[in-house]
Order: sequence, then C-alpha cells, then structure tokens
Amino acid sequence: MPKENRLAGKVAIITGAASGIGEATVTLFTQQGCKVVANDIPGSPLEDCHGNNPDVVCIAKDVTDEDAPDALIGAAIDNFGRLDILFNNAGVCPPEPILEQSPGQWEHVLDVNVGSINRLTLAAVPHLQASGNGRVINTGSIQSQIAGETLTAYTTSKHAVAGLTKQQALELGPMGITANFIQPGFVVTGISKGYTDQMTAEEKDEFEAYWANKAPVGRLGQPIDIANGALFLSLDSSNFVNGIGLKIDGGATMRL
Ligand SMILES: NC(=O)c1ccc[n+]([C@@H]2O[C@H](COP(=O)([O-])OP(=O)(O)OC[C@H]3O[C@@H](n4cnc5c(N)ncnc54)[C@H](O)[C@@H]3O)[C@@H](O)[C@H]2O)c1
Repeated sequence: MPKENRLAGKVAIITGAASGIGEATVTLFTQQGCKVVANDIPGSPLEDCHGNNPDVVCIAKDVTDEDAPDALIGAAIDNFGRLDILFNNAGVCPPEPILEQSPGQWEHVLDVNVGSINRLTLAAVPHLQASGNGRVINTGSIQSQIAGETLTAYTTSKHAVAGLTKQQALELGPMGITANFIQPGFVVTGISKGYTDQMTAEEKDEFEAYWANKAPVGRLGQPIDIANGALFLSLDSSNFVNGIGLKIDGGATMRL
C-alpha cells in the first residue's frame, strides 16, 4: 500500500504486535506516516514481522514485567522524542471452563489483559498529555459485554477493560487524552486459532460458519478490520470520541 500521511508526525506504542491485530496495526500506522514502538513477548516473531520497517523499533518484553512501562515508553521517547498513541492490544485467551480453572490462570489473564493496560497508561500519561492529542486505545472484545463458553477469566478481563477505559476517558479527558476500547468480534488471528484448536474439525467449521453467518456482512473479521478502527480512533479529527466501545464485528452481536 502506498504511504499516506494521516498520522504524520505521530508516535505510537502498539503491544501484541507480532501477530494478528497488533501486527496489522503496526503496518497500517507506518503506512500512515506514524513511527511505532512495536512490542511483543521475548521469543515471538516480532523482528521477523517488523525488523525491516525503518519506522519501527521492536521491543521484546512481556507487558506484565515490572519494567515494561519504562522500557516501552523509554523506547518511544529515546527513539522518536514523543508519544501520541498508546494501543494496549496484547492479550491472552486460554480457554478454561469455570469449574476447571488451573491455578494462577485467572491472575495471569487478568494481569496481561487489563492490569498491564492500567500500568502502561499511567506511565504514558505525561507524554500523552504533552502530545496535545493523546490517545489511549485498549483492545476489549465483544466479550466486554457478553459471556462465552470456556472464557471465564477472559470474559472477566474484557469486561474490566470496558470499565477501566471509561474511567480513563473520564479522568484523562481533561488532560487532552481520549480513551476508547475496540470490541472485535471473531477475527482470524493467533488467539482465535488457539480457541478453535480445542475443537474437532467439524466443530471448528460449524463455529466459524456460525459467526460468519451471524454477521450480516457474511464473513469473519480480519486483522486489518480492527487496525482500521484503531486508525480512526487515533486521528486528530476523532478527538470528540471518548469513552466508547467501538464494536467491529460485522454486525454479528447486534442480533440474537
Ligand atoms: N481474534 C479475535 O477473535 C479477537 C476477538 C476479540 C478480542 N481480541 C483481542 O485482540 C487482541 C489481539 O489479539 P489477536 O486476536 O491479534 O491475537 P494474536 O494471538 O494473533 O496476537 C496477540 C499477541 O499478543 C501477544 N502477547 C500475549 N501476551 C503478551 C504479553 N504478556 N506481553 C506482550 N505481548 C503479549 C502474543 O504473543 C501475540 O503476538 C487481544 O487483546 C485479544 O483479546 C481478539
């Protein structure tokens, strides 16, 4: 895609950037003139994804590490001199029925999916305020509103993302920072594969067909569909959009 410039001069941090939604968003944002600190866990294919992109600095770090906020925000300031957009996108979704939760799983999912958002955002606030048009974008889910089989900790964490984002929107708004969360439906990525891999081939086909047919647009989501939502929320012209959950699910969850 040719370079456009809708994010010219902006600097973003994007977590969970070695796969799926985060990977697509890094590519889209740099095509729009943004400089990006791309983050994912050590051992992920982060460098393979973005190492050749001159507008990207890759930081392999677990977002739950105590020093993750300093490492990521430091990378933005040291390399690019500012921070305008924080896209808290990293997430995990280990499927576990409510009666079969393994020790520590609840804490892990809550810490990756929501605790890290709180810590990273707090550390980013001075820089987002200095931006004059600061953006916090958190990845929630349609599970921010509904429940799903085997998604005990995940559903809980994504409801918490909704609550945290609204609180951020309320308290950071006066500082010139908006906060919104994106609610993807079924998107074809590593996480959704992990979820459907627990199924038989027939169950997987049935599950995917169910979600594709439930969406009036008649298909499953792709990472770029969500990246485009993150782009919209990042634009200066979106600065009156604050505290919303932007559902991007092809219309699947608007009907029974
Ligand atoms: N794919 C879907 O259907 C769907 C639906 C709703 C919400 N989401 C959300 O979208 C976000 C992105 O997921 P995706 O669908 O692109 O899946 P994905 O698995 O393709 O990408 C998620 C990335 O997050 C990274 N990650 C996980 N734990 C991390 C940690 N502790 N520190 C840093 N990085 C970490 C993973 O390594 C992975 O590269 C997640 O928050 C997920 O919950 C996805």
